[in-house]
Amino acid sequence: MADDTPRPHKRRPRYRGKNPRAFHEKYKELDSLRYGADVEKVLSSGKTPAGSHRPIMVDEILECLRPVPGEVAVDATLGGGGHARAILERILPGGRLIGLDVDPIELPRTEARLRSAGFRPDVLSVHPSNFAGLARVLADQGLAGADMILADLGVSSMQLDNPDRGFGYKESGPLDMRMNPLKGLPASQLLARTAVDKLARLLERNADEPHADLLAAALKAGAIETTGHLAEVVRDALGVLRLSDEEATASIRRTFQALRVAVNDEFATLDWLLRSLTECLSPGGRVAVLTFHSGEDRRVKKAFQSGHRDGLYESISDEVVRAGRDEVRANPRASSAKLRWAVRAASHSPKPTGGDSVTS
Ligand SMILES: C[S@@+](CC[C@H](N)C(=O)[O-])C[C@H]1O[C@@H](n2cnc3c(N)ncnc32)[C@H](O)[C@@H]1O
Repeated sequence: MADDTPRPHKRRPRYRGKNPRAFHEKYKELDSLRYGADVEKVLSSGKTPAGSHRPIMVDEILECLRPVPGEVAVDATLGGGGHARAILERILPGGRLIGLDVDPIELPRTEARLRSAGFRPDVLSVHPSNFAGLARVLADQGLAGADMILADLGVSSMQLDNPDRGFGYKESGPLDMRMNPLKGLPASQLLARTAVDKLARLLERNADEPHADLLAAALKAGAIETTGHLAEVVRDALGVLRLSDEEATASIRRTFQALRVAVNDEFATLDWLLRSLTECLSPGGRVAVLTFHSGEDRRVKKAFQSGHRDGLYESISDEVVRAGRDEVRANPRASSAKLRWAVRAASHSPKPTGGDSVTS
């Protein structure tokens, strides 16, 4: 979804060559209200404009959530609001959507964009909250439960592409990685404070990194303050293994993922959300979770299977749903997405142990 939040007019940034390359130079893509036609051109070329996020597997998610007018929906990871908008269009008239996100930088932009698209506070409420606190947000809204809940995990393209946020290394930036920069420690400090053996286990646990011990030792050899430096240290350390460029890049990607998961305590908050889902869903309510790596998917799969065994869910996806080839071609970020869904039982009737087993 393109970011059409009005931005104050600024002098056009100077850049070398014919086209801007760096994130902050792409002033047209970052101001889609003023440069809508240019943003459309980027989108139709199959790229994601700077400062925007393309929602992934929208049709498949709508098929799982089955939104109809009058229903209450939760988007636990509002991001750029693309999924929320698609759901809102189906639950109106009469429905409402509760949107949560931890990011205090992007959330006001997304809210402004959705408001300017006509979604008033009576149909859309926006909450700067971790989804671990979903039960409390619903209670504060006077709701006993939602008819559907969506969680699209990880980071948005706006977060990933902006070098100031420190999530990526395409353009170097401060090694931060906090989805909420007002809370917790940036990745540079977490690295400095974590002992080498603990760091190795963190790389294994959070990203299945096969060269964890070698990389942990290299990461502790000196202070690392930027994302560019982090990528360089990993690449240099892997030199002794004579890996292909592709394998080295995969290790860099996994190192970034492992640190991001630790900085934002992503597994603990996901576990918390998964535990609270059946309490937050109305009887017969649907939940869809989109994950982007095996550490997340394993957790969702286990939680849905055990909820199904216990009779809390009447049905769950028996295998993951993946993005179609056309979507992956148009948006490579969809290639690692895995979608799972579950339907809360109309009434809780625990099954005898050894009940239905679901594989995938
Ligand atoms: C992949 S993006 C969601 C994109 C969104 N579905 C869309 O259509 O634009 C993930 C979003 O979830 C947010 N997020 C990640 N972990 C969260 C958590 N524990 N609680 C609330 N929001 C979270 C991130 O800040 C990010 O904005």
